Amino acid sequence: MAKEWRFGIVGVGVVGEWHVRVTPKVPGAKLVALCDLLPEKAQAALDKNKLSGIPIYTDIKQMLAKEKLDVVTVATPSGNHMEPAILAMEAGKNVISEKPLEIQLDRIDRMIEAARKNKVRLAGIFQNRWNEANRVLRDAVAEGRFGKIAWAGSFTPWYRTDKYYEEGGWRGTWKLDGGGAIMNQSVHAIDLLQWIVGPVKRVSAYASSRIHPKIEVEDTLSCALEFENGAYGTILGSTAMYPGGPVRIWVGGENGTAISENGLHTFKFRDARPTDAELIEKLNTKKATTTGGGASATDVATDLHGRNIAAILRAWEEGKDAETCGPEARKAVSIILAMYESARKGGAPVDVK
Ligand SMILES: NC(=O)c1ccc[n+]([C@@H]2O[C@H](COP(=O)([O-])OP(=O)(O)OC[C@H]3O[C@@H](n4cnc5c(N)ncnc54)[C@H](O)[C@@H]3O)[C@@H](O)[C@H]2O)c1
Repeated sequence: MAKEWRFGIVGVGVVGEWHVRVTPKVPGAKLVALCDLLPEKAQAALDKNKLSGIPIYTDIKQMLAKEKLDVVTVATPSGNHMEPAILAMEAGKNVISEKPLEIQLDRIDRMIEAARKNKVRLAGIFQNRWNEANRVLRDAVAEGRFGKIAWAGSFTPWYRTDKYYEEGGWRGTWKLDGGGAIMNQSVHAIDLLQWIVGPVKRVSAYASSRIHPKIEVEDTLSCALEFENGAYGTILGSTAMYPGGPVRIWVGGENGTAISENGLHTFKFRDARPTDAELIEKLNTKKATTTGGGASATDVATDLHGRNIAAILRAWEEGKDAETCGPEARKAVSIILAMYESARKGGAPVDVK
C-alpha cells in the first residue's frame, strides 16, 4: 500500500493557508494538525477551506508530542524557519520549509545538519520550478541548445503597497524578512535563474528603498553578475514598480534565445524543431490567469505548491532527497547574501559563497 504522509503545518498565515488548501489534495498526503501562535488564524484557514476535525496548537512542541506526524510544513516568518524546523527534525519528522529556507547561511546549515543528524529529510518550497515554461528553459540549457550562453537575467518587477509592509509586522525587516524585494519576492526568480543557467560566481549590486522609505530593507535592487560558465547576467528585483508585472527569465546565446514570462514567451533556436512551436502554443502566455504574485502577494495560482509538495513526497518515497532539498534551496540565499554585501559596499564585486 502507498505510504500516507501525515502533515502538521506550523505558521498558518497567508501562505500557511495555501498549504491548508493544497496539502489534502496531494496524493498520499493527509493534513493532521495545525499550529499558530494565533489559533484564530489557523481556525480561519480551516473555515475558509471547509475543513473540520483538525486540531489546532499554539505551541509546536505540544503538536509534536501529541500528534503522529511524518512531515512538518514550516510557514512562519522567514527568519523564524530554523527554530520550528529543528524542533521537528529532532522529533524525527521530515520538514518542508517555505522559501527562503532561512535568511542566513549559518541558520540554513544548522537545518541541513539537523536533517543529517536525525536521519530525516529537509526540503524547501520553490514552486515555480514546477511551472512548465521554466522547466522547458532548463531542459533547453541542459541539451546545449543555446550553444554558449552570452547572458541570462531574472526580472521581478513587482509592486507592494505601504499597507502590505505595515500589516505584516515582520515584512520589510532585516531581522525576520532578511531583506526586502530580493530576499522575500525575487528569491523565486533567483532560484530559477541559477537552476536554469548554473551557479553564479560573482555579483555587483545597487539597492535602495526610495518608494517605500519607511522600510529598513530594499524595495529595489539591480545586479550585474557573472555565472561560473562565463555568461554574464542581470537580476532586477523590485516591490516599487506599480502596478507590478510578471517575472521574466531570459536566456540568450550563440544559437538561441528563450523567455519565460507568464508562460513560454519566446523560444527561438537555430536548430528549430516542430516541437518548439507546439510548446509555444501549449504554454501560451495568454493562458496565464494571474501575475504570479506581481501585483499582490495573493495573486498567485496555488496549484504549483501542490506539484512541489507532490514531487518532494515522490522523491522521499524513492529514498532520495527532493529536488529542492536543503543544499539546493540554500543556493538562492547564498546569491542574495552576496548581492546584499555588494550593495553595502557600493556595488563592489562579491564572490558567491
Ligand atoms: N512560496 C511562496 O510563493 C510564498 C509567498 C509568500 C510568502 N512565502 C513565505 O511563507 C512564509 C510566511 O509568510 P506569510 O506571508 O504567510 O506570513 P504571515 O505573517 O501571513 O504568516 C505567518 C504566521 O506564522 C505565525 N507564527 C509566527 N511565529 C510562530 C511560531 N513560532 N509558531 C507558530 N506560528 C507562528 C504567525 O502568527 C502567522 O500567522 C515566509 O517565509 C514567506 O517568505 C512564500
